[in-house]
Amino acid sequence: MKVTVCGAAGGIGQPLSLLLKQSPHITHLSLYDIVNTPGVAADLSHINTRAKVTGHIGAAQMDAALEGSDIVVIPAGVPRKPDMTRDDLFKINAGIIRDLATAAAKNCPKAFMLIISNPVNSTVPIVAEVFKKHGVYDPKRLFGVTTLDIVRASTFVSEIVGGDAATLRVPVIGGHSGVTIIPLLSQVGGTSGLSQERIEKLTNRIQFGGDEVVKAKAGAGSATLSMAYAGARFTFSILDAIASNKPVVECTYVDLNSDAQGGAATKKITGDIQFFSVPVELGPAGVQRILPIGNLSEYEAGLLKTALPELNGNIVKGTSFISQAN
Ligand code: NAI
Repeated sequence: MKVTVCGAAGGIGQPLSLLLKQSPHITHLSLYDIVNTPGVAADLSHINTRAKVTGHIGAAQMDAALEGSDIVVIPAGVPRKPDMTRDDLFKINAGIIRDLATAAAKNCPKAFMLIISNPVNSTVPIVAEVFKKHGVYDPKRLFGVTTLDIVRASTFVSEIVGGDAATLRVPVIGGHSGVTIIPLLSQVGGTSGLSQERIEKLTNRIQFGGDEVVKAKAGAGSATLSMAYAGARFTFSILDAIASNKPVVECTYVDLNSDAQGGAATKKITGDIQFFSVPVELGPAGVQRILPIGNLSEYEAGLLKTALPELNGNIVKGTSFISQAN
């Protein structure tokens, strides 16, 4: 399979490409960025694993980078600095995502699109609109990568309740920014004995975990290494679903129309929202089934109520960026 990383020379792109280079399922790892990809590609190409590595630099080489890709992973664009929200990135990143999605719609219309660039709540709707414009939109193949929220939740929860963080699964639904991130701690074994205060602190840490890294990096960017790990995990899950025909479940931000039945069941709880992060069963064609969210505690139902208007606003912002252009 050909996997293309757009933004491959960046803080996330480089370690993500390194991790992807290790996959036996990838035959061609194509690295695209507006800077430095020849060096990154030369370096990675010396690693003795299966994938052939090619580097592509600048807009003139974008089509070649994307042509025939099976999976496109996009961590291109600017990251946050202290005191910035993910939404503050929209002005710059929306245009970058629009251009990359346009090239993908032309060069690899059937590719699985994995969107990391923030604000994910808006960049995923942008990709959907661009693909619709080109008549190639398949909602089963578009994913907002929220895996870092799940990875963080597993780490933070296991620090409190014990157990192995690597296998502790915490469902995180909603979107990927602050209050739109909704960890469902009530569904995790071992949390029932925690006080409400503890639950709220833990929830807040998961929602704003990204800020811990932004603050610690003091102007030098946001999470890159943990995001590369999370991005690789999600890509490997997609590769497993395609290659092994064995369903894989991940929480990811998808178009709820990608599974009519599961999407309708989710909308009974969320109201009429188009994009939402839910547990998804992945299969060879992408979204196979949107799985039930399960029971929410009263506190989690309150989090959902707070999240929905903000998430809806983010979605409309992304959608209208394309639909109202020209
Ligand atoms: P970075 O600045 O280190 O790297 C971004 C790369 O994108 C750079 O190499 C840059 O040259 C490249 N780029 C810029 N314009 C481009 C274009 N038109 N085409 C191709 N490449 C282009 O940033 P970093 O830290 O790697 O973050 C990238 C994005 O990922 C940011 O938007 C950040 O907010 C987001 N992010 C998402 C997370 C998530 O959980 N989904 C977590 C952490 C970051």
